[in-house]
Amino acid sequence: MFYIVETEKFTLMRPQRGSNSRPLVYKTSALTTELWSLYCYVTDYPRFSNGAIAGDFHVFFYRPYCRHVDFRSLTLPAACTIMEVFAVLFSVGAKALTWLCVILFTAFLGYCFYIKYIHMKYDHIPGPPRDSFFLGHSPTFVRIMKKDGIVHNKFLEWAEIYGPVYRINILHYIILVVTCPEAIKEILMSPKYSKDQFLYKGLINLFGQRFLGNGLVTARDHELWYKQRRIMDPAFSSLYLRGLMGTFNERAEKLMEKLSEIADNNTEANMLQLVNCVTLDVIAKVAFGVDLDLLSNNSPFPKAIEVCLKGMVYQIRDSLFQFNPKNWPFINEVREACRLLRTTGAQWIHERKTSMQNGEDVPKDILTQIIKTAATEKNMTEEDEEFMLDNFVTFFIAGQETTANQLAFCIMELARHPEILDKVMKEVDDVIGMKQEISYDDLGKLIYLSQVLKETLRIYPTAPGTSRDIPGDMTIDGIHLPGGFICLFNSYATGRMEKFFKEPLKFDPDRFHPDSPKPYYCYFPFALGPRSCLGQNFAQMEAKVVMAKLLQRFDFSLVPGQTFDIQDTGTLRPKSGLLLKLYTWGRCDLVNRIS
Ligand code: HEM
Repeated sequence: MFYIVETEKFTLMRPQRGSNSRPLVYKTSALTTELWSLYCYVTDYPRFSNGAIAGDFHVFFYRPYCRHVDFRSLTLPAACTIMEVFAVLFSVGAKALTWLCVILFTAFLGYCFYIKYIHMKYDHIPGPPRDSFFLGHSPTFVRIMKKDGIVHNKFLEWAEIYGPVYRINILHYIILVVTCPEAIKEILMSPKYSKDQFLYKGLINLFGQRFLGNGLVTARDHELWYKQRRIMDPAFSSLYLRGLMGTFNERAEKLMEKLSEIADNNTEANMLQLVNCVTLDVIAKVAFGVDLDLLSNNSPFPKAIEVCLKGMVYQIRDSLFQFNPKNWPFINEVREACRLLRTTGAQWIHERKTSMQNGEDVPKDILTQIIKTAATEKNMTEEDEEFMLDNFVTFFIAGQETTANQLAFCIMELARHPEILDKVMKEVDDVIGMKQEISYDDLGKLIYLSQVLKETLRIYPTAPGTSRDIPGDMTIDGIHLPGGFICLFNSYATGRMEKFFKEPLKFDPDRFHPDSPKPYYCYFPFALGPRSCLGQNFAQMEAKVVMAKLLQRFDFSLVPGQTFDIQDTGTLRPKSGLLLKLYTWGRCDLVNRIS
């Protein structure tokens, strides 16, 4: 910028005869070397250009407006004209700056008052003390994330301390964490509460790059969501899902081949990575008709999904994340990963549309339904194209990570509980025997395996919550809640609360025995109500096929020394990656399996 550095009285010398009238500025003792690199504007130059002898002048020092203008190469009048222009610009700029500062200060003050007003409006609701006036509880979450901890443990701890509804502040937002079953039922089962704007904003765009946009998970407008859900529903009907058993079997079989190799070579299996390949393979094949074969080929997709989810978590939980230059390389990586998924989507959609236009027989899979959710071919707008990509990325991510993580946690808990492992193996022996192809009807008979999978999601809900905007007033547990807040439902917290599940940390599939009472609105790993998971049956069928084949063919034990901690990357996953030793025949010593 152009600004006055200093005004002083200096002695200006007349130029040498014969030289053209360049401004001659002489150093005085007041000028440092640094200032000497600045240029001067002589207020009294006519006397100077008239050939006046040396005298005293007021000299204003400016930092040059344009670095590439070399004032020394200009004649004095030219230099002065430029400087005068700068002076005018400067005074206008200074005024504008002053006004801007006034406006910003007023806005800031207004925002402070607004936050104070919000605090006063909601502070009667119990909640932990705020870390800061502005950021509210956000610093607590940032601290936990920096230590690689789990934010959901904090939600659980606060629920035990502050009760069935407690308050969290972030900037001017009020988030009420609700663990009261009646309220969970009332809000989640009703179509009138839309997904909240603040938390889902972090899914719609990732650091300015469109991510899930207006797709099924993130659509807030009820009509828009309902239209998409109606079109997608047929791809998840039980009739359609039956038809997917072939793909589930085929992809799970490839995993078994890989595991056999690992067992034969007596090496360790990183199960999280392997099941991730299977679930991504399945969704790519079943939803988009694409063969990735990730167990044999390398692919950038698993990493891209992981980076996007991590970016999403930082964007939501740390309000200042993107303003810290230290984080910019990571933010670029997130944007790049997001772009990779969307450009892949654009390419696959284009290929499918071309096949459709050529009258080829295309499967009635998720991709075909996604194309149907957009406008008709003729008046397809850019927004329609983006909209299709939103759903492409939605299914690519929603249809994969969560199931893979559930499988990994399930195997981890079975390896830690030999008696449960024995029981579920026996069921698989009874129902499947030596059969290679598992049928849809077989799945219905694997009742104990269902219980094991349900119990896995109670302790490890891989997609740990959902939230809604509550525009109107409401009363929960006798506390009046003025409208305008966000309700957060955390299935990790409710699933681990003593008041809902006795000995909550004990892995006990019998809680979900068909004759046991059903948990009352405190167990919702797939959310509840109209916005519950569309892929729930798909996921559990896939998980059962993979688990049944694994239990049928292998015995396994945990590689010693690994942690059973959870990693929170938006979805929850085993931190260790779950390293297993596999045995193709016989049973290994049960004692080895105990952690
Ligand atoms: C263990 C596996 C899975 C878990 C735990 C899970 C969990 C969830 C949860 C909690 C939601 C609600 C999200 C929210 O409210 O923001 C959800 C929504 C959704 N899930 Fe899943 N999911 C799983 C697998 C799948 C699969 C395999 C697919 C697709 C093939 C899928 C597709 C969807 C879709 C489309 C929605 C949005 C539904 C709507 O709003 O209409 N999910 N899922």
